[in-house]
Amino acid sequence: MLLRRPRRNRKSAVIRELTEETTVHKKDLIFPLFLIEGTNKKVEVGSMPGIYRYSQDTLLAEIESCLELGIKTFDLFPSIPEENKDKVASESYRDGNFYLETIRKVKEQLPEACVMTDIAMDPYSSDGHDGVFENGEILNDETLEVLGKMALAQAQAGADILGPSDMMDGRVEYIRDILDNNKFTNVSIMSYTAKYASAFYGPFRDALDSAPKSGDKKTYQMNPANKREALIEAELDYVEGADFLMVKPALAYLDIISLLHDNFDLPIAAYNISGEYSMVMAAAQNGWIDKEQAMLEVLLSIRRAGAKIILTYFAKDFAKLNLG
Ligand code: PBG
Repeated sequence: MLLRRPRRNRKSAVIRELTEETTVHKKDLIFPLFLIEGTNKKVEVGSMPGIYRYSQDTLLAEIESCLELGIKTFDLFPSIPEENKDKVASESYRDGNFYLETIRKVKEQLPEACVMTDIAMDPYSSDGHDGVFENGEILNDETLEVLGKMALAQAQAGADILGPSDMMDGRVEYIRDILDNNKFTNVSIMSYTAKYASAFYGPFRDALDSAPKSGDKKTYQMNPANKREALIEAELDYVEGADFLMVKPALAYLDIISLLHDNFDLPIAAYNISGEYSMVMAAAQNGWIDKEQAMLEVLLSIRRAGAKIILTYFAKDFAKLNLG
């Protein structure tokens, strides 16, 4: 006689739903969007099927259609023309640059949209690095000054959440101070807490033409071999005033999501990054896997690991399924 028959809890769709431990809601999702200069542009990213680079006008239309589907938070990334890049990313805080202008427009025309921004030098840097690059080195404290200016400019433009993705030491406190000293006490910081030096960022760097011109990002992004070190980063971000802790990438780092979830009471976010999206899309386009099922499984795994919030290029596709 078998007293314990776990299959009883899987016998019908209704019972399976009743016993479901994890769910994905569209309200948990943040949709990253790429922005380019110009008007009436919508250019597909070659390595990210179904993902586009938008000019301001088409971006507004895209955000509006996502809002109708129930996606409410958008993480905006600019692709900066090469001639506007320099060693100190001065374009990033220049009043009137098209990124800041677009944030203003979105908040003006679609006030229900929650706008998240990215803080790091790479899209604006002629070296393609997240920090100030000199003699083969990334200078931490000099970079903080640039990040601070960028943060203030983004807050002034109306951003709701700032996302420092640069991995410099001390940046959360530095940015928090500048925000508070300028009366932006209500602007949130979602810190890229445990951001690993990953091969999976490849398609994103295509989208923004932001790959490092020399070297790699291993002196600032974390070593994929390390887990305990994520606790040090999380502790610092916590005491420095971060409102959310983020793990990035997500899929090869589900243990890190779980670790931060178990050790910190702040909401945990995970970035289901470009390479993770492109792998699913490439296999699906070849007919090797089912896109929809794979997408749902990926998102579920990230929620199950302990992330409340998922930044994902699948956000709109998920919302279209109207599952919750
Ligand atoms: C830049 C930044 C990167 C991503 C978000 N912000 C790339 C990098 O660090 O090289 C990656 C996002 C993705 O791959 O989807 N600081």
